[in-house]
Amino acid sequence: MYENLIMEIRDRIGIIKINRQEKRNALNIATRNEIVIALDMLRQHKEVRVVVITGAGDKAFIAGADISEFEGRTALDQRNVMRANRVFDAFEEFPKPIIAMINGFCLGGGCEVALSCDIRIAADTAKFGQPEINLGIIPGGGGTQRLTRLVGEGKSMYLILTGELIDAQEALSIGLVNEVVPLADLEARTMEIAGKIAEKSPVALRMGKEAVKTAARLNLREGLDREIDLFALCFSSEDKEEGVKAFLEKRKPDFKGR
Ligand code: COA
Repeated sequence: MYENLIMEIRDRIGIIKINRQEKRNALNIATRNEIVIALDMLRQHKEVRVVVITGAGDKAFIAGADISEFEGRTALDQRNVMRANRVFDAFEEFPKPIIAMINGFCLGGGCEVALSCDIRIAADTAKFGQPEINLGIIPGGGGTQRLTRLVGEGKSMYLILTGELIDAQEALSIGLVNEVVPLADLEARTMEIAGKIAEKSPVALRMGKEAVKTAARLNLREGLDREIDLFALCFSSEDKEEGVKAFLEKRKPDFKGR
């Protein structure tokens, strides 16, 4: 069904692997369309509680948009492409947590995919950057906004205006990634984190993700009000009763997502 993705569901974790190794997993239109379809499937899949996105091979996570598709493209065509399939928004709006497992070059639209995810775990070999400036363009998948919110204006401006690449340690030091591990340990560590999250209440995960996302969208007063609403909403779930009961009975909770 998928030409450019390898899909797997393992222990309640949905795994999307972009498989265009010969093009360093660059995002062409077909791949972007497939990602949106895959996310839709994983959203509806009852067993899947967490999603991991990664790239095939050990060279690239995603080396950006497929530059060969830019040649001769008009402004209107580009606008249509970006509006027709809002892959970055699809990640951000996805109701389950998404972890970017960054196994190599994480550039341009690839960095923007990572920025649209909830947690970023990087191999020590990964390289990061927004090199669009070298093509005479700027990031258009949310990079100017999400990178700036995550690492601050100074560092974001530097990366976007110079197009320089940084290594995984520097990405960690500026807060672009959560954790850096040796490449050989990347999958095991990412699955460990995903597994830990998969044990939590899916209802609480959804509310928690939504609440944190509002911090970048609303002012503090509105955000705090929204948090109260989402917090109170958790009290309508069976999972909340189970979580509280399990604590009082000194046992592990068994969350059903209801
Ligand atoms: N779009 C289209 N093709 C890409 C690509 C991209 N973003 N990134 C890599 N490729 C292709 C190369 O053209 C090459 O194709 P070919 O074998 O048909 O010539 C193949 O992938 C391998 O790339 P190569 O440059 O030989 O590999 P490398 O390991 O030496 O370098 C990169 C890897 C990622 C550093 C380098 O390819 C690069 O700078 N890519 C562009 C990154 C970028 O500007 N992204 C933002 C786009 S908006």
